[in-house]
Amino acid sequence: MENKQTPLIEMTGMNKYFTMGKEQLHVLKELDLTIYQGEFIMIMGKSGSGKTTLMNIIGFLDRANSGTYCFQGKNVSTLNENTKSSYRNRHLGFIFQQFFLIQSLNIRQNIELPCVYEGKKNRKEQRKLSESLLEVVGLASKKTAKVTELSGGQQQRVAIARALVNDPVLIMADEPTGALDTETSRDIMELLTDLNQKGKTIVMVTHDEDLKKYATRVIHMKDGRFETEEVISHDSKSYDNNLA
Ligand SMILES: Nc1ncnc2c1ncn2[C@@H]1O[C@H](COP(=O)(O)OP(=O)(O)OP(=O)(O)O)[C@@H](O)[C@H]1O
Ligand SMILES: [Mg+2]
Repeated sequence: MENKQTPLIEMTGMNKYFTMGKEQLHVLKELDLTIYQGEFIMIMGKSGSGKTTLMNIIGFLDRANSGTYCFQGKNVSTLNENTKSSYRNRHLGFIFQQFFLIQSLNIRQNIELPCVYEGKKNRKEQRKLSESLLEVVGLASKKTAKVTELSGGQQQRVAIARALVNDPVLIMADEPTGALDTETSRDIMELLTDLNQKGKTIVMVTHDEDLKKYATRVIHMKDGRFETEEVISHDSKSYDNNLA
C-alpha cells in the first residue's frame, strides 16, 4: 500500500527570514527534509522554534528565501502563486487547531467547499462525497447540523472530512488537538492514524509528547534547526493495545 521509497517531498538548504523593521530574523536555518509517502511525521519544538513557518512552506502558503523544494519530484520553488494555489487545493489537506469552519454553512456544505473551489464535480457528486466522508469521520447523523451545534471534537472531525475532500496525497495538521481535551484528542489521533494506515501521508505539529506514539517519525526543532529525529517502531499488536 505505502511506498517508503518514493519521496513525496524533498527540501534542501532551506532558509527563511522575516524582516522586522531593520532587523532580520533567521527563522529556518539550512533545513534539509525528505518526506516519504506513507509517513506520519510529527514536528515538535518550543514555541517560536519555526514549526508553523516550516508547515506554511511545505504547504505552499509561504516560500523560503533560499533552498530547493520538490513535491512529487517536481521543483515547486519557482511556481507562481496561481499554480501553487491549485497545487495546494488538489494535493494537500489542512487541519488547524481552531478548526476554521464557516458558521453560516452547515456541516455538509463546509465539507463540500474545497470541491466547489476545485470545480470538477457536479452537485450530486459533491453531495455523495461529503456524505461518504461524514461516514468516515463518524458524523453521518450531523450532515445538516450547524457548526455551533457540534462539540470541539466533532468540529475537528468535520475539518478532517473537509481536508480529505479532494483526496489529498498529504495532510498537514498544525496542532490539531491543541484545543481538545485528552480523550477527544485521542479520538482525533485514532482517526488520523487510520487515515495514515490507509495510505495518507501526514505531517503534524504538536507540543504533546504523549502523541508521539502515533507517529512513524518525530522531528525535534530548536531555533530553526532540526535537532534530533526519532523513528517510532510500531509493533502492530502492542500498538493496537495502546489504542484500546
Ligand atoms: N509573519 C511573520 N513575520 C515576522 N516574524 C514571524 C512571522 N511569522 C513567524 N515569525 C517569527 O518566526 C519565529 C517562528 O515562528 P513560528 O510561528 O514558526 O513558531 P512555532 O514553532 O510555530 O511556535 P508555536 O509553537 O508558538 O506555534 C518566531 O520568532 C516568530 O515570531
Ligand atoms: Mg506554530
